Amino acid sequence: MSLATVESAKKLAAYSAIDDHFPANPTAIGIGSGSTVIYCVDRIVEKVAAGEISPDVIYVPTGFQSKELILSGGLKLGDIDRYPVLDACFDGADEIDRSLDCIKGGGACLFQEKLIAQCARKFILVADYRKNSTALGIKWTQGVPIEVVPSAHTKVVSELVALGAKEVNLRMGGKAKAGPIITDNMNFLIDAHFGPIEDPATLATQIKLLVGVVEVGLFIKMADAAYFGNEDGSVTARNRDGSIKKVEW
Ligand code: A5P
Repeated sequence: MSLATVESAKKLAAYSAIDDHFPANPTAIGIGSGSTVIYCVDRIVEKVAAGEISPDVIYVPTGFQSKELILSGGLKLGDIDRYPVLDACFDGADEIDRSLDCIKGGGACLFQEKLIAQCARKFILVADYRKNSTALGIKWTQGVPIEVVPSAHTKVVSELVALGAKEVNLRMGGKAKAGPIITDNMNFLIDAHFGPIEDPATLATQIKLLVGVVEVGLFIKMADAAYFGNEDGSVTARNRDGSIKKVEW
């Protein structure tokens, strides 16, 4: 797979999702995080310039990166306190299964992503073909991202092992930061790999109940549709009702 193919797949998935799901006359829209959602904002900016989307629409970000995207696109920035009901939210994902459950948090923004997604009337995923999976934990083997209060991380790591995690890592800053990465909410992130996850809903509940866990990067029954850019230049849209649409570009 070439980089150009992956980038083109991301772009076409994002463009198709905006074309199909940007609501008519919305008040506020959620903007997710990651490299695919950049193309959603590009498409929105294009449509604002073309007069197809009102310049008065408010955009609520899921983190620092999406806030910058909104501002650099010349769009109106809002926050979730002021706009607790969003007409739609567009976001990327790390792995998406057949029922549209997904793993998110590869970019460390999972708490705000889940908050914004839950406030949205419809939640649309955009991804390239590498994220299209039969079960969570098969393709994304880095682990389920889990945001934790720093003082609880040692306890939570042990509890995740007891829940069956095969590998658990506190996410480190690498060359960019000595020590663990700090989320936009000043917390730590743990990545827990469970292998293929048979029952993501139960696992999400079990993890969420551990004291110290702020949020789990398993998004269960939240997405209304997922748009996958394919290697051949087409886009496959899978809807919550099981219907599938193919978009040719
Ligand atoms: C951010 O925390 C993640 O949930 C991203 O939405 C996810 O990693 C998708 O990112 P890409 O679009 O870069 O693959």
